[in-house]
Amino acid sequence: MTIFYYLTNFSATKIKNLNIAVFVSGRGSNLKAILNSDLTKNKVIVKAVFSDKKNCPAFEIASEHSVKCFSVGDCEGCISYTNIISLLESLEINLIVLAGFIKLIPNSVVAEYRNRIINIHPALLPSFGGKGMYGRKVHEAVFKSSAKVSGATVHFVDESYDTGKIIAQRCVDISDVKSPDEIAERVLKVEHEILPYVISKFADDKIKIINERVVIE
Ligand code: GRF
Repeated sequence: MTIFYYLTNFSATKIKNLNIAVFVSGRGSNLKAILNSDLTKNKVIVKAVFSDKKNCPAFEIASEHSVKCFSVGDCEGCISYTNIISLLESLEINLIVLAGFIKLIPNSVVAEYRNRIINIHPALLPSFGGKGMYGRKVHEAVFKSSAKVSGATVHFVDESYDTGKIIAQRCVDISDVKSPDEIAERVLKVEHEILPYVISKFADDKIKIINERVVIE
């Protein structure tokens, strides 16, 4: 028997736009790729950017595009995770995009936004993921392993680090690299393509789970 899920909750209610919240921790090049892509000329609206930092370069990118910024977590003046769900609801967020966000999303938020939170990881999961595997550490591990391909993975977020179902992956040849930085550079290029691509598929309601596998139509 085929088990078939629609993942977004907006097709039935005919909401015209896909409202997204992007979660970041630092540089924000993936946020920039989203904001500069054709997505935002069409159905996708970046309603807000959230960070676990009081300030970060990604906030500057958001501000240049007049996108509201919020800091989340325990810091003074930050929005607590208890209050974040009501804020996301008031912003009518359909999809949460983790783009370089290094903290674990609390279970309460995962439960509320099940299959509506995605993350970009700079390696080919299920290898080179998990707690502490972020940024340069990922590329160093890939380099030391002597793997000949790496790439980017966009996956659903569940209760653990990097274990949710894989939505899309793109590979890069790294057989000739001389350093982890070279890997990072090649992978980042494909990250900037694959993340807007996946978001566009959500906007078109083309992502489904069929027989436990994520399928892009
Ligand atoms: C990216 O490599 C992303 O895959 C990882 O953290 C990095 C963030 O980069 N999760 P940026 O902030 O989008 O430039």
